[in-house]
Amino acid sequence: MKIAMGNDHVAVEMKKEIKVYLEEKGHEIIDVGTNSTERFNYPVSGFQVAKMVQKNEVDCGILICGTGVGISLSANKVHGIRAVVCSEPYTAKLSKEHNNTNILAFGARVIGIETAKMIVDEWLNAKFEGGRHQTRIDMIHEIEMTQELKEN
Ligand code: RB5
Repeated sequence: MKIAMGNDHVAVEMKKEIKVYLEEKGHEIIDVGTNSTERFNYPVSGFQVAKMVQKNEVDCGILICGTGVGISLSANKVHGIRAVVCSEPYTAKLSKEHNNTNILAFGARVIGIETAKMIVDEWLNAKFEGGRHQTRIDMIHEIEMTQELKEN
């Protein structure tokens, strides 16, 4: 798969380790940075990765900041993005199967590298189940585009 990765200054080491881990599995990684430990505002990389996913330039995105919260919130402001922040693999798997998440986020200050690898593996290997779940995603899209929800 072609995967965009982004992070802030807190998550440089974890991003590098996950990038190598995924490249060794044969994935192509587009790294938007940062690769410096100088203070870096997470909305910059969150937005860059989200736009690449939105424009189908990559198959999906992975974002890492201290908690995964700020960077996933930033990505979720881009239309069509469904970013999930995870601290364990079960949510990662279900977020793909039920919510068709297209960006995975986690926190370098929250989880260790082995948990991060498990989360990434579960998320990348899971498949969206469609059906009733697509109906709900369509409703999310309606909220996003109209700020309304007709069906309730
Ligand atoms: C940076 O200090 C920290 O706020 C950031 O990495 C992230 O945790 C925000 O959600």
